Amino acid sequence: TDQPLVLGIETSCDETGIGLVRGHTLLADTVASSVEEHARFGGVVPEVASRAHLEAMAPTVERALQRAGVRFSDVDAVAVTAGPGLAGALLVGVAAAKAYALGLGVPLYGVNHLAAHVAVDQLEHGPLPKPCIAMLVSGGHSSLLLVPDVAGDLISLGSTVDDAAGEAFDKVARVLGLPFPGGPHIDRAATSGSGTAIAFPRGKYDDGTLDFSFSGLKTAVARWVEAKERAGEPISVPDVSASFQEAVVDVLTRKALQACRQYDVKDLLIGGGVAANSRLRALAQDRCDHAGIRLRVPRPGLCTDNGAMVAALGSELLSTGAPPSPLNIPADSSLPI
Ligand code: KG4
Ligand code: ZN
Repeated sequence: TDQPLVLGIETSCDETGIGLVRGHTLLADTVASSVEEHARFGGVVPEVASRAHLEAMAPTVERALQRAGVRFSDVDAVAVTAGPGLAGALLVGVAAAKAYALGLGVPLYGVNHLAAHVAVDQLEHGPLPKPCIAMLVSGGHSSLLLVPDVAGDLISLGSTVDDAAGEAFDKVARVLGLPFPGGPHIDRAATSGSGTAIAFPRGKYDDGTLDFSFSGLKTAVARWVEAKERAGEPISVPDVSASFQEAVVDVLTRKALQACRQYDVKDLLIGGGVAANSRLRALAQDRCDHAGIRLRVPRPGLCTDNGAMVAALGSELLSTGAPPSPLNIPADSSLPI
């Protein structure tokens, strides 16, 4: 017997993501990104993102249905990111999801973007251990969560007190003259540099909390680069990239393992766009191996924002009998975890 088919819609930032999932099986994951339109501004422009979502919505849904080989009438439930994210961008997804759910006569599930970043791993690695610790690192958030059950309440253990990890990557990339979004460019440049070339500060390293701080690091890199420029000395982009990246991933992995120890949890999941970082994946694996922690990281395409993660969480909610959302559910830009 076929498990229900769930359509997932993600529009919290600059990616129009449409996913189709049956149980834990991913049938289609289609993403239309407006990132190119934002690149010349050096960051996501909310109005531009909203308009791009509006234009991309119907064609992206159409492409996903085609890729999965299903029809609209096969969809059994619609899930959508209700927040947190950019208000106008979220609204386009939520409005579309309501229209699809109403038109098809199927339940609607408004989901939390962070919980969806956690749930997506089930599509790749099967059911999540209960409980697990999740570290979500992206351009908009850097959080440590205790996840007793991804379909239930997630408990926030700590988060960034200033910049998100991805934001720090993007800002440092800008200082180094690398294109937006900078994370992948720093990752690439760092492969030919040394992580120990420059000693950059590690914020909140030993403070005992599970919070992060990246703005001091970002400023330190900017000052270092300025000083070199003023002195007319050459700047090694690979060395700065690798040393900055090392500082970020050192703190991230240290705090993630601290959370596992503190809550006596043996399974760690890392998600969000920065989880695509090759050095973070390698160092996390190394430290987890030493600590006897099992590590799960979705493949890079499932770490960045996408519709499959929303469909994955919707599928989980549907299978656990969670009540659907009312059709007047709001888009909530600051939806708490
Ligand atoms: O999850 P995501 O697609 O969108 C948000 O919710 O923010 O994450 C995007 C962020 C950007 O800041 C981008 O620079 C960063 O993830 N990122 C990376 C890498 N790939 C994407 N950061 C470091 N290394 C990467 N390979
Ligand atoms: Zn995200």
